[in-house]
Formats: sequence, C-alpha cells, structure tokens
Amino acid sequence: MSVSLAGRGAMAPLLLLCAASGLLLAAVAAIPPPEEAARMARYVLHSCDWGALATLSAQEGLRGRPFANIFSLSDGPPGPCGGSGVPYLYLTDMEISVQDLEVNSNASLTVSLAQTPYCRKHRYDPQNPLCAHIIFVGSIVKVNDSEADIAKKALFSRHPEMENWPKDHNWFFAKFNITNIWVLDYFGGLKIVTPEEYYSVKP
Ligand SMILES: *[C@@H]1O[C@H](CO)[C@@H](O)[C@H](O)[C@H]1NC(C)=O
Ligand SMILES: *[C@@H]1O[C@H](CO)[C@@H](O)[C@H](O)[C@H]1NC(C)=O
Ligand SMILES: *[C@@H]1O[C@H](CO)[C@@H](O)[C@H](O)[C@H]1NC(C)=O
Repeated sequence: MSVSLAGRGAMAPLLLLCAASGLLLAAVAAIPPPEEAARMARYVLHSCDWGALATLSAQEGLRGRPFANIFSLSDGPPGPCGGSGVPYLYLTDMEISVQDLEVNSNASLTVSLAQTPYCRKHRYDPQNPLCAHIIFVGSIVKVNDSEADIAKKALFSRHPEMENWPKDHNWFFAKFNITNIWVLDYFGGLKIVTPEEYYSVKP
C-alpha cells in the first residue's frame, strides 16, 4: 500500500501526471487539506486496504446488538491517482457478519489513516482527529456481473491471496452502499459529507 507522506501542495503536477501518462511512477498523492472533507473521505478510503465493519448481530443471544469485524476492501487498484470511492468487498455466506447482513443489510464502515504509516510518522494518536478517520453508514449490497469485474480488479490487485481462497466457500463481490458520511480530520467536530459530494469530487 502506498500512502502519502508528502506535504500538501503537490497535487496539480500530480494530476497532470495522472492524466497525461497514467504512469504511477513513485509518486504519492498528497493528503488533502482538512477543509476539503469530501476529498479527505476519498483519500482515506483509497489509502486503506481494510476497514472495521459493524453489523447488527443476528447471532443467538446477541440479536440486534452491534457487532464490529474486520474486512479487506478496495476502491480500486492502489496508487496516487485515486480510486472509485466505492468500497468493494469479497464475501461469503459462511462469514458470521455476512450472516448478520442477510437478516439486516444495514452496516457502518470505519477507515482511518491510523491504518497507514501517516499517523505514526506524524505522531498522531489514532483518536486524534488529525489522524483522519471516516465513518460511513449504509448497507451492503451484492454487485451485478458487470460491476463484479470492476470489484474483482479492485480487490485482487490489493489482496492477491483472495484468488486462492477456498472455492467451495461461494465468494461473491459486494459493495458498501453509502448513505451517510462523517469525516473526522480536524478539531471542531465531525463534518458531514453527502454521497453526492463524495462521488463527484476529484480525489
Ligand atoms: C435499515 O436502515 C434504514 C434507514 O434507517 C431503515 O429504514 C431500514 O428499516 C433498516 N433496515 C432494517 C432491515 O432494519
Ligand atoms: C450493474 O450495476 C451498475 C452499478 O449499480 C449499473 O450502473 C449497471 O447499469 C448495472 N448493470 C446491469 C446490467 O444491470
Ligand atoms: C442504497 O441505499 C439506499 C438508501 O437506503 C437505497 O435507496 C438504494 O436502493 C440502495 N442501493 C442499492 C444498490 O441497493
């Protein structure tokens, strides 16, 4: 995974580079300024290979209670040119949280720059807002065949061992259907970003 350790302000030349050549080279995308909350949400998601997914439990004795678990994800192949913003997942009905989702597909997904070298390098505690974290609320939906091709490229480029996961587990491609976004990237409280802003912004 490559994540920005560079300072801010290198974005314009980088965009030209991405547009002109498609070459990733050794370039890393700069972290957006905190006031650009939609870009920050896209940046943090694209920088992360996994997230914490909370479901409402359907387990005996836990029914209806929150249940947080770790899932590998990807919004596109890694690199400084940004991803699609869509958190894709590779799931099986045998998984305990996926069994929750079959009863109630509502879920919440959290990703953080604490999962990258960024916060450690800057000595930001994971709970420090400067160690940007994003909370998504929505639901998990299976993707159709044409989107599954995109999901597969996104996931297998970052998680090569997925290709060898046991075939008899009936893996399928899914995405997090984002309805609400909260960005915690600076002091002064959470910022709300709409899915429309999130998907329309240039990462
Ligand atoms: C999921 O959340 C939505 C929005 O709050 C709600 O309308 C819906 O009933 C929830 N689904 C289930 C199965 O509880
Ligand atoms: C598959 O899903 C995508 C994304 O939701 C949509 O744009 C596309 O039209 C769908 N394709 C088919 C064949 O239903
Ligand atoms: C995503 O969630 C919204 C809001 O609950 C819902 O209207 C929409 O149908 C969902 N999209 C898919 C592809 O399930």
